[in-house]
Amino acid sequence: MAGTEQELLIRTAGCGELTEKDASEGREVVLTGWVHRRRDLGQLIFIEMRDATGRLQVVFDPSLHPDAHAAAESLRAEYVIGVAGTVVMREAPNPDHPTGMIELRGQSVTVHNRADNLPIQVADQQEANEEQRLKHRYIDLRRPRLQHALRTRHRLATAAREVLDEHRFVEIETPMLTRSTPEGARDYLVPSRVHPGKFYALPQSPQLFKQLLMIAGFERYYQFARCFRDEDLRADRQPEFTQIDIEMSFVTPQQIYDLIEPLIVRMFEAIDVQIARPFPRMAHAEAVDRFGIDRPDTRFGMELRDVGAAAESTGFRVFDEPLADPGGAVRGIVVDGAGGASRKQLDTWNGWAREAGARGLLWIKSAGGKIGSSALKVLGEERCRDILRALGGGDGDAALIVAADRSLCNQVLGQLRVRIARERDRIPEGAWNLLWVEQFPLFEHDDEAGRYVAIHHPFTAPNWDEVSRLETSPGDVRSQAYDLVLNGTEIGGGSIRIHRRDVQDRVFEALGIGAEEAEEKFGFLLRALDSGAPPHGGIALGFDRICAMLAGTDSIREVIAFPKTTSASCLMTESPAEVDAQQLTELGLKTLESRGKKGD
Ligand code: AMO
Repeated sequence: MAGTEQELLIRTAGCGELTEKDASEGREVVLTGWVHRRRDLGQLIFIEMRDATGRLQVVFDPSLHPDAHAAAESLRAEYVIGVAGTVVMREAPNPDHPTGMIELRGQSVTVHNRADNLPIQVADQQEANEEQRLKHRYIDLRRPRLQHALRTRHRLATAAREVLDEHRFVEIETPMLTRSTPEGARDYLVPSRVHPGKFYALPQSPQLFKQLLMIAGFERYYQFARCFRDEDLRADRQPEFTQIDIEMSFVTPQQIYDLIEPLIVRMFEAIDVQIARPFPRMAHAEAVDRFGIDRPDTRFGMELRDVGAAAESTGFRVFDEPLADPGGAVRGIVVDGAGGASRKQLDTWNGWAREAGARGLLWIKSAGGKIGSSALKVLGEERCRDILRALGGGDGDAALIVAADRSLCNQVLGQLRVRIARERDRIPEGAWNLLWVEQFPLFEHDDEAGRYVAIHHPFTAPNWDEVSRLETSPGDVRSQAYDLVLNGTEIGGGSIRIHRRDVQDRVFEALGIGAEEAEEKFGFLLRALDSGAPPHGGIALGFDRICAMLAGTDSIREVIAFPKTTSASCLMTESPAEVDAQQLTELGLKTLESRGKKGD
């Protein structure tokens, strides 16, 4: 049996690969890996050993192998070891553990390395705080949960690649050092040393390059593309993230759906979940009307409704003012079974409505035929009952109502609906609701800037039969864009693009981008459109978001090996960091801080 340090370096089996068959054959193996846990039980030393394939119990018995037992005395958590021994059935099996029926009887052991600096524990059920975990990410990543998350990510990437390969897509890399593409966030800039005062921008997406690849005749492109966006971070946003970026020539939205649906189905198969096709579709206007949001979570009801006639002529200012305004509305949702909601509960919901931007939330509840309402005095019992009924509620239910600008009503009730569903466990376990949202408006009006902005990006095609309205009523033009939504999270977005120069010029014009600015920023694209650009379109899937959801974690940080914090720092490498004065000088840069220090 192997015994030297060299012999105990060469693994002959993985901890998680051994089975009862190996035990019945009394197989002799060499395992290499980490000490996950160590337990001393009377005379015996038990080591739970871990490697990339799983975990296995190793037992050192002094009556059988005294030297190995003596060597095992020194083992501590996270030591890197090599063990030779015989696979045997366990005397006290643990059927809940994948290798719990068997164990390795350790005959020799060597320590390949110690772990004297262990700021966080791997085997603890109790997790260290996230700051410590991110700072020592290489240790945190040893935890089975994170190993599972990143291995799931790999399986999903492989599934997607297989489907794209079967459909004859070509993976092509596009530049990281480029110029700004307008995806709506701030750019990360990289100063040029060779061209002092000039900057590259890291790509917010490969949008323009993939269009250029269609013009270059590739017809089917994809890329696992790293994108960089300097925006406010949340659980589902990172400053650098990965898209499965796809573009095709001579396509309709239907053909994009016919590619993406099997691709998503295959990803779900990789986690043993069967998903039905075709995915449902919903027009943007319907999504906003029924769910208050353009990425509705359709796993539960509680849909938004207009109060309608029951809110008219009440003499109640809160209702009358918005109803007198063409953009105003009185809308609500019904929480089934909340007719007996406590004051505290209603106050909480009111607080949530305010956090979402409402001035207030009006409630009506009915329990045992008795009506309660925050506006009972002004509206009276009968009117309250009518309103509750108009919203689809009855005795035993509560209605939550917002009277404001229609878009504010939607925003507030859309958020409230999701928070209440989570709070009241209304979201069915294990449901995967995929939805295409389509028929978006092309533009929305930015009231502050006093102009139209693109809802997706300025290269999105308008409906071809609505192009004539670009100048006369731009706000009414719908686009050929589509988003893919999974359980209320936007996991992808794309569109058919503008392939004709004249239409692109007119869209830039409608966005207030003059000919000179268009030439300066996108001259290369405009010239390319003029040189035989095929009709084309595509989509980008938010790969981190898909991985997080399919790996069952709440945050995309869990499926990114080395993520940033919500303030865009890497706690492990301590980036961003200051650089040498020399580096700045070479780049022709001076920071305000360094200017301050020198007193100029
Ligand atoms: P879009 O901006 O919608 O489209 O991005 C596509 C998808 O990328 C994901 N995503 C993010 N994931 C993590 N962190 C972020 N900060 C982040 N931002 C976006 C979302 C989103 O649906 N060029 C277009 C695509 C196209 O038109 O083909 C684009 O980038 O899941």
